[in-house]
Amino acid sequence: MSLQGAVGAAELVFYVNGRKIIEKNADPEQMLLFYLRKRLRLTGTKYGCGGGGCGACTVMISTYEPASKKIRHYSANACLLPICSLYGMAVTTVEGVGSTRTRIHPVQERLAKCHGSQCGFCTPGMVMSIYTLLRNHPEPTYEQMTAALAGNLCRCTGYRPILDACKTFCKDSVCCQSKANGRCCLDQEEDLSGREEKESARLFSPDEFEPLDPTQEFIFPPELMRMAENQPKRTLVFHGERMMWISPVTLDELQDLKAAHPKAPLVVGNTGVGPDMKFRGVFHPIIIAPARIPDLNVVKCMSDGLTIGAACSLSVMKDILRNAVLELPEEKTKIFYAVLQQLRTLGGEQIRNVASLGGNIISRKSTSDLNPILAAGNCMLNLASQGGKRWIPLSDIFANGVGNNTIRPEEVLVSVHIPHSRKGEYISAFRQAPRRENALPIISAGMRVLFEEGTDKIKDLSIFYGGAASTTICAKQTCQTLIGRYWNEEMLDEASRLILNEIVLPDSAWDGKVEYKKILIVSFFYKFFLEVLQSLKTMDPCHYPGIPMEYESVLENFQTKMPQSIQIYQNVELSQSPQDPVGRPIMHQSGIKHATGEAVYIDDIPAVDGELFLAVVTSSRAHAKIVSVDTSEALKEPGVFDVITANDVPATNEFHYSDDPEIIFARNKVICVGQIVCAVAADSYAHAKQAAAKVKIEYEALEPVILTIEDAIKHNSFFEPKRKLEHGDVDKAFETVDHILEGTGEIHIGGQEHFYMETQSVLAIPKGEDKEMDVFVSTQHPAFIQEMVAASLGVPANRIMCHVKRVGGAFGGKLLKAGLLASVASVAANKTNRAVRLILSRGDDMLITGGRHPFIGKYKVGFMNDGRIRAVDAKYYINGGCTPDESVLVAEVSILKMDNAYKIPNLRCWASACKTNLPSNTAFRGFGFPQSGLVTETWITEVAEKTGLSPEKVREINMYKEDEQTHFKQKLDPQNLIRCWNECMEKSAYYGRKTAIEEFNKQNYWKKKGIAIVPMKFPFGLGSRYLSQAAALVHIYTDGSVLLTHGGIELGQGIHTKMIQVASRELNIPMSYIHFCETSTTTVPNACASVGSAGTDVNGMAVKDACQTLLKRLQPIINENPKGNWNDWIKKAFEQSVSLSATGYFRGYDANMDWEKGEGQPFTYFLYGTACSEVEINCLTGDHKNLRTDIVMDIGCSINPAVDIGQIEGAFVQGIGLYTMEELKYSPEGVLRTRGPDQYKIPAVCDIPEQFNVSLLSSSQNPYAIYSSKGLGEAGLFLGSSVFFALRDAITCVRNERGLKKTFALNSPLTAEQIRAACTDDFTKMVIGRWGSDLFNYV
Ligand SMILES: Cc1cc2nc3c(=O)[nH]c(=O)nc-3n(C[C@H](O)[C@H](O)[C@H](O)COP(=O)(O)OP(=O)(O)OC[C@H]3O[C@@H](n4cnc5c(N)ncnc54)[C@H](O)[C@@H]3O)c2cc1C
Ligand code: FES
Ligand code: FES
Repeated sequence: MSLQGAVGAAELVFYVNGRKIIEKNADPEQMLLFYLRKRLRLTGTKYGCGGGGCGACTVMISTYEPASKKIRHYSANACLLPICSLYGMAVTTVEGVGSTRTRIHPVQERLAKCHGSQCGFCTPGMVMSIYTLLRNHPEPTYEQMTAALAGNLCRCTGYRPILDACKTFCKDSVCCQSKANGRCCLDQEEDLSGREEKESARLFSPDEFEPLDPTQEFIFPPELMRMAENQPKRTLVFHGERMMWISPVTLDELQDLKAAHPKAPLVVGNTGVGPDMKFRGVFHPIIIAPARIPDLNVVKCMSDGLTIGAACSLSVMKDILRNAVLELPEEKTKIFYAVLQQLRTLGGEQIRNVASLGGNIISRKSTSDLNPILAAGNCMLNLASQGGKRWIPLSDIFANGVGNNTIRPEEVLVSVHIPHSRKGEYISAFRQAPRRENALPIISAGMRVLFEEGTDKIKDLSIFYGGAASTTICAKQTCQTLIGRYWNEEMLDEASRLILNEIVLPDSAWDGKVEYKKILIVSFFYKFFLEVLQSLKTMDPCHYPGIPMEYESVLENFQTKMPQSIQIYQNVELSQSPQDPVGRPIMHQSGIKHATGEAVYIDDIPAVDGELFLAVVTSSRAHAKIVSVDTSEALKEPGVFDVITANDVPATNEFHYSDDPEIIFARNKVICVGQIVCAVAADSYAHAKQAAAKVKIEYEALEPVILTIEDAIKHNSFFEPKRKLEHGDVDKAFETVDHILEGTGEIHIGGQEHFYMETQSVLAIPKGEDKEMDVFVSTQHPAFIQEMVAASLGVPANRIMCHVKRVGGAFGGKLLKAGLLASVASVAANKTNRAVRLILSRGDDMLITGGRHPFIGKYKVGFMNDGRIRAVDAKYYINGGCTPDESVLVAEVSILKMDNAYKIPNLRCWASACKTNLPSNTAFRGFGFPQSGLVTETWITEVAEKTGLSPEKVREINMYKEDEQTHFKQKLDPQNLIRCWNECMEKSAYYGRKTAIEEFNKQNYWKKKGIAIVPMKFPFGLGSRYLSQAAALVHIYTDGSVLLTHGGIELGQGIHTKMIQVASRELNIPMSYIHFCETSTTTVPNACASVGSAGTDVNGMAVKDACQTLLKRLQPIINENPKGNWNDWIKKAFEQSVSLSATGYFRGYDANMDWEKGEGQPFTYFLYGTACSEVEINCLTGDHKNLRTDIVMDIGCSINPAVDIGQIEGAFVQGIGLYTMEELKYSPEGVLRTRGPDQYKIPAVCDIPEQFNVSLLSSSQNPYAIYSSKGLGEAGLFLGSSVFFALRDAITCVRNERGLKKTFALNSPLTAEQIRAACTDDFTKMVIGRWGSDLFNYV
């Protein structure tokens, strides 16, 4: 068909939330996410990454199939769905599920009431994934539920409360069903109620929940059904500004189109083409969408296998294969089974629901999970073109390696034939990814062997790998050589060597995992070898003995199970008034709005007339002189309004908070990749982005380029001052100790990306008079933003009104960086005199804003035979990046908190912040302690290894025991530290489980378990009084309603909920009378940042003060009419001219630190905690599973146990990310390569412990903070290190069993790569020599 026949532009008809949409100008470049948000003003669906990796944009798509009369509902990522693909479909967004204006859906209600939202940014996506599952399965199983959430990331909650909400819909029992250790979760709850009446384990009450009533849901629009049934299908063509979309309906048409446009891609799910166009600069003027062609959707069960249409989604394929596996004899379905295994973890459900089989195959991506197994399984491809049809083996498309062109550009893939397996044939698939679910594989593999009948003599063998080269590759020579061999150890040995010789990996891979990949390549073959041996035994036990029992467990892959959990907290006193909410697990004030998508974040604020969108242009060099910036081409682009540079900054472009400046726009030189050089303002984000790519910057290289801590030490490049603390007589102590630990003496801890779900966002609106500007910004520190914007514009601070309603996660990352970005937007708004919106893409956010400091800790430790540590001499280096930000402070805190829970009598420590050419690093939850604490626990563990004592003994021996002083002479009472330790020991049944683990480890060779218990002392304080001052403003209106505001920011930590609880108690009125609107510099000036766990402490004091002032004024009126009610008193007060508005103030905590003397009182009080974690590792792959964690935390008297437990769990899971998975990768030129959830893996549902218990320590008082509580936002993160040390314990067991060197070093994050390398065996030796290479840090 010629294109001429199809040029008439069609109308795009689809439904959104029951409303018909007719789009006359559908643009093929427009994704559903932006259409919903910007065009339909449905802002509940969020942007988190734009690449299908986070699930924040999840919607439900419903389609009707007239032939079967079936409606299909499936979840999908709106960010990758072209609107043109939606013809005849119905879209349901979170707004369509329920709202506060109509009816809240049970999913929304339960998520909120189970405390499943904190910042709330991921919540609409979660709602949609759960809702879609329930539409298909009103009573799902646990397995279906965890699978439905695998594609949704949450950075705040740690998932436990979300899963609690999910469980309420599941048909499985709420019991853990495991009587391991003789108890199950319910027994423990019973025990608890028997023992401690004052304690509670219920954070929500299921009796309150509305039942799920499937009959209440939207029906599929009848009009769409009629359209599908009655209207003849016709070719659809949509023209956009730059692109054309053609959707043919017959195979002939498709062939004609492909002949006419051989370069045009066929787009089905857009999960391959979409990311290429968005992130890799690929552009296609014509797109052909073949999804409506029946031939490409066939499903045929043939006598020799299954034929599946190329446009079938991977989910449809999964269902087909699952049914076939259930129906056919096992012997025939081995290939199906192996493919199913890959499909279970491929992408998230949202990806599998749209991604097509054909797309996965034809993309020929190296990371395809399907191609290796389909190729090994002898699958056939049915290709069609104008020249006719032909079948080719799938393996042919990889036969000649990279660049092979077996499929001609004009050919299309119609279907794929997956054959039945035969007698004597064995087939398996393997994969190892940075995260078990929703992550592209590092290596995937498909292997098949066919034996001569009744023997184990190889007749045919296929081995294919993904991840090793630029596409799937085959170990062809190896397979040919091995034909005729018997399936035995000799063959294994030869095969391993042949494979390693044949599969040649490039010397460097973007992720640097070359050696790990090689190890996986042989390890997978070994696993296949074992699997086949075991299958042979099943077939003929007399001839084939199978594998040793202790090898068997490795054949089972780790599975995600629905976690079980218990949360224990103190009940309020019986005497407490039922209306008084303090101490009760109150739902987050915005919980319901999070779940309905009504909660407004910056980019949800409606468009301002004439507003412009900003896209930043960043440096591509780490250190260079800017020779020229040419904006001429950019200015010619459609929709472009202006380009903003340093020359447009009216006043301050460089802020000198210390010696080196913080810079808004680079002027003469750039000092890191990702530094903002200029910004393009245009009428849409797409136009701004396109034009930004046209700005040409010429550079001249400058020397040196310093990227690492080692480079900085070499060039003596530091931010001043360097800090040192010394306590006792370190040198003398080293002379008297029994042993000195010096050899290993070093640990490297990688940085961490904040990965708040809402990227940095600003909306700057000039008000048109007196240079006033409203700045809406996602920040933790509005006063600082106000100060920076005012300084950059050269206006007094009283002209800048900074507003923050809520922030979609921050974790320390929205302080100075948010100020610089707010300045960029405000300068642009000032220059253009228009409102300017700057929403960073996920990639830009990760590139520009820095994160947690990479860290090197070097140490020398002196200790006695009995485990007492007498002396520590340590040096800490942090990579501060290119500007100071808070790096020196972070370095300071790292040494102030380095003692963790231990009394070290002689201690010396230096800390230096390195100045490098990386993006500037900044504050991040824990602020230096997560790194220095890990160093401490590492040397504690090494002392245990040296002395032969257990790590817990060394911890106990050295723990603070009585009223003592820290290394900077601050007093502390460690009673609660010891109580947390003892309670955690008991609650986790530590010793019993340790014995059970030893037993397990004896019986399993390739799988090992490990356990660790880690104590924590977390000092609270901000270092000086003025940094912890706070203010509040409370108005009472004449109708009795109360408007509360204070200087704290809602980041998800529930501060407003807690402040309303405080005000409710103080004013003695129900919480429902009190409203919080926003934090603003217009209501509370000069507020300190919401950082350092201090928000509730300090703002709580200020709110209390304001309320007490008001109550004092009201008291005479109340006394006059004690039987009256609140409204009577307020009315009276107004009549008596009593002011009904009051400010409250808290001066802050006294704090000081004299670095010269090395002493002071920098902290106000201490929090304590202990975590015990158990893990299981797979020694062949390095994979691990978090089995159980028990946490006991002393947080004083909790103001809101649900919020506080949520903080502990969320921080803990962020800690798991830091210590075991999150890996930042830079190129040798300093370019951050991990710029999205596809490359950078934060914990997902599959990563949380299967058993996850948190108890708050009872009877703990804290005289320093409001209502005896303690500030706890950060503390839990460090407890994630218990997983790191549990992994170390498992690795130690492996190494001891194999007689390997006792001392070894492990760096953070302790990824699968490191675990695998540390478990040295014949395969690692084959690849990296006897003790491994430096890469793996062996000693
Ligand atoms: C977040 C995310 C996670 C992912 N995780 C995984 C994973 O874990 N494992 C894995 O293997 N993959 C993964 N993928 C890749 C995904 O499986 C593939 O992108 C998908 O299968 C491609 O199908 P599609 O329909 O979306 O392709 P499209 O993007 O629509 O098309 C991709 C390419 O295939 C070609 N094509 C499509 N159909 C045909 C046809 N019938 N004939 C000829 N050419 C055709 C197109 O021309 C185009 O070049 C992931 C992708 C994303 C975005
Ligand atoms: S925004 Fe769509 S998946 Fe992240
Ligand atoms: S609540 Fe999930 S990302 Fe914040």
